[in-house]
Amino acid sequence: QTLFSSLSELIDCPIKVYFTIDTSETIALQESPPGSLVESIKEFTKIFTEKLADEEYRGQIQITWSIGGLHFSQTQKVFSHFTTRENFIRSLSRIRYLGKGTYIDCALRNMTQQVTQHYYSGPKAALFSVVITDGHVTGSPCMGIKMMADRARDQGIHIFSVAASRSIDELGMRDIASSPTEVYRDNYIVMEVVGGKPRLSTESIDQIIKVMKYQAYLQCYKPTCLAVPGIPGRKGSSGPKGAKGDRGKTGQKGEKGRQGDPGIEGPIGRPGLKVVSADVTQIHFGNFQGKMGRIGVPGCKGDLGDKVRWIFFIQKYFYIMFIVPVFDAKLNKIITIGYMGDMHSFEKGLACFELMQLFNPQQGTAGHPGDPGPRGDPGSLGPKGDKGRTGFGYPGPRGPSGSTGERGNKGPRGSRGECGAKGEPGDNGPEGEPSLSCVCAGWSGTHRRSWAHCIQSVYCEKHCGALDIVFVIDSSESVGLMNFTLEKNFVINTINRMGSMASDPASPTGTRVGVVQFSHEGTFEAIRLDDPTITSISAFKMAVKNLQWIAGGTFTPSALRFAYDNLIKGSKRSRAKISVVVVTDGRFDPRDDDNQLRYLCNDPDVTVNAIGVGDMFDKRHDSETLVSIACNNKSRITEMKQYTDLVAEDFIEKMETVLCPDPVIKCPDLPCKTELDVAPCVGRPVDLVILLDGSERLGMENFNQVRNFVESVTHKLAMAKGKNDRNWARLALIQFGKEEENQVAFPLTHDRDAIASGLASLTYLDSSSAVGPAIIYTINNLVGKGSTRKTRRGAEVSFVFVTDGVTNGTILDEAVSAMHREQIVSTVIATGSDVDQEVLTKLAMDNQEAIFKVQKFSDVLQTRMFNRFIRWVC
Ligand SMILES: *[C@@H]1O[C@H](CO)[C@@H](O)[C@H](O)[C@H]1NC(C)=O
Ligand SMILES: *[C@@H]1O[C@H](CO)[C@@H](O)[C@H](O)[C@H]1NC(C)=O
Ligand SMILES: *[C@@H]1O[C@H](CO)[C@@H](O)[C@H](O)[C@H]1NC(C)=O
Ligand SMILES: *[C@@H]1O[C@H](CO)[C@@H](O)[C@H](O)[C@H]1NC(C)=O
Repeated sequence: QTLFSSLSELIDCPIKVYFTIDTSETIALQESPPGSLVESIKEFTKIFTEKLADEEYRGQIQITWSIGGLHFSQTQKVFSHFTTRENFIRSLSRIRYLGKGTYIDCALRNMTQQVTQHYYSGPKAALFSVVITDGHVTGSPCMGIKMMADRARDQGIHIFSVAASRSIDELGMRDIASSPTEVYRDNYIVMEVVGGKPRLSTESIDQIIKVMKYQAYLQCYKPTCLAVPGIPGRKGSSGPKGAKGDRGKTGQKGEKGRQGDPGIEGPIGRPGLKVVSADVTQIHFGNFQGKMGRIGVPGCKGDLGDKVRWIFFIQKYFYIMFIVPVFDAKLNKIITIGYMGDMHSFEKGLACFELMQLFNPQQGTAGHPGDPGPRGDPGSLGPKGDKGRTGFGYPGPRGPSGSTGERGNKGPRGSRGECGAKGEPGDNGPEGEPSLSCVCAGWSGTHRRSWAHCIQSVYCEKHCGALDIVFVIDSSESVGLMNFTLEKNFVINTINRMGSMASDPASPTGTRVGVVQFSHEGTFEAIRLDDPTITSISAFKMAVKNLQWIAGGTFTPSALRFAYDNLIKGSKRSRAKISVVVVTDGRFDPRDDDNQLRYLCNDPDVTVNAIGVGDMFDKRHDSETLVSIACNNKSRITEMKQYTDLVAEDFIEKMETVLCPDPVIKCPDLPCKTELDVAPCVGRPVDLVILLDGSERLGMENFNQVRNFVESVTHKLAMAKGKNDRNWARLALIQFGKEEENQVAFPLTHDRDAIASGLASLTYLDSSSAVGPAIIYTINNLVGKGSTRKTRRGAEVSFVFVTDGVTNGTILDEAVSAMHREQIVSTVIATGSDVDQEVLTKLAMDNQEAIFKVQKFSDVLQTRMFNRFIRWVC
């Protein structure tokens, strides 16, 4: 009892708690209405704070709380310095979210500064920060979360990492938390969903407070070592005669215990960052260097030492395991005592167990019995007490960071650059012989399909007329870096299809392009329509690629106004069409002025197309916003689920038609000009055979569309001019039914009359079908071989199947092999929704691109689909 009596006074234990709250855009706009999740966080913090009552803890420490806080996005705003809970709650209620991007590392830096800046003369406080965030960052300008969390830790701050909701980046959350993460992260959450309903998680609050108190206790309550006096000598026995001897003198105090062993080595230092070159980030793990541990606490003063050689302990959260090897001099061996329990009972227990066991007091010898005469001598000194027990050290602080790594290796070679721009035309050469063939670099005879394409791309140019296109793309935090890159690629891919750019931004014709990327007010960045340095597609692409993700708030309405006032208004060309393409996730910061969403609608020369993409938390975008942006014309709205759909070939193609509906293809004056025509399938012979599935599955309605289809094809393809024309297209049509039931409507011909009369006499078989035998029949009879060859020399023979693939599969594989042998090119128009994909794939000779799927056959005739079909066939 006496041993602990001096501990009964309460030790002052102040605790400082600092809330660090993320109010960036991803948090603020996560729930609707905007800002509602921030309000929930405020409520959570309020409940939290209300539970922080001053109290006596474990009968040993007196806890007093002070509370402060900041909220942050890209900047930080201190809303309360350390104060009482009442003051804190008042300041808390005044928080309005910041919006914009998230720099957690800067917030941690500022938090550390706020927590440690005030000189404080009382007992050392236990320091905590509760960081509430989603762990998503848009940048790390303050050296990164890990580095800043470490710094806070070095200043003695323990950081709890609390998720605002379930939408989090768990890795980011863990980087924030102090170690061990099981204690400081522990899935703490503000809003959890229970039974489909959101509610504040008071369990998280209670658990955090529990940990805080305990940690504070460990910090404030240090067991005091006491000196234990040696046992006094025995009283001397009385002498026969002499006076009673004096009592023996109290034994000498034992020596001071020896200094404790150094603490265990600190954790390894943080690896150095390798210097990076050429875009390739490599982390080099520097040599770890732990620092020496702190010198141990001095051992107990007193009399019990000498036998206890050393104490070593391992601390594991809450439970502490002690292994105490003790050298017993009397037994002349080491005895080991293990102990497990919490810190509190250990400290008490340690003081007792030791020591009772090993303490081996010797008494002073008895005083001489006194004769009646002289007084007895005083008893001799009691023996020296044992040496105090050795103190024990705590783990030392973390060692310094490893040294910076070596410079990284050179990055891998970049991919081959794009082709350079066309060179200046050379001087006129001497006039040569007129030639009938055009040279097309890269064209090889085995790929006949590429010939027409090559001729067009090398010699011809597409022109969209006087056209200004302005892209307005969302560069806010909620879009994310990857999606922002997709937006840029969308701009580039679309422009790739717009043909040649205006050679001079001031010229009255030609296409000009501008881009506005936007986030919050004041961050808009533009590539202007009349930028004099942008005269080629590659210059424009480079400018787009150089746009950096802004990662702030979403101020869509202001961005539209900016686009109009800065790009369009001042640089209008007479007779030029202006198309604006706005890409956004539909939501914007409600602090922006939504009247300006329709800012572009007041100018009749401007057409606005709005593209809405599902946002980062996968909620549906706000369609109303899109409707306003598109000036209430719903057919100018495209909604898509994900950003990758922006760069899908189909969508780019659609944009091409929307932005440049009537292109003019201009081909230069070439010696072979007569062969060059804007119509497809030019300059080469193409023999096209249509194989129509006449089974009942086709249906009368589809059958009746066959005439329209063939007419459209003859109209669109440039047909050969006569029997002996070695170029252009010819057409044949065969309807196939059961084996042997093949009906040739017309064989390969250039003659429109023959085609018309063939179609007129065609009747629907309406039976079942077998495509394999039909192919063989067609090859033998319509294509022919050797001397009976019906196709023209060098002609590309192209089969167009109209079928759903549900057909007798007999000899299909042989038939497809025969098509390969004859170098026949295949196209499949698949009708209906119940198709046999395997058969279709075989017919398309394994080329999925060659399969055109439509509900009803007439769908092929829709402009977009039909153009794609013709482009493919040619
Ligand atoms: C922390 O934020 C406050 C504004 O709330 C600012 O005055 C202070 O300079 C910031 N400190 C650091 C280290 O960024
Ligand atoms: C709406 O947009 C479509 C497609 O651009 C266009 O054809 C139509 O005329 C527009 N409607 C109105 C009322 O402007
Ligand atoms: C990109 O957008 C998709 C939705 O299209 C979303 O699921 C994803 O989280 C976004 N990526 C980032 C980094 O924000
Ligand atoms: C497919 O055609 C072959 C040959 O004409 C015939 O023997 C077979 O019964 C047909 N299969 C079906 C399922 O009709």
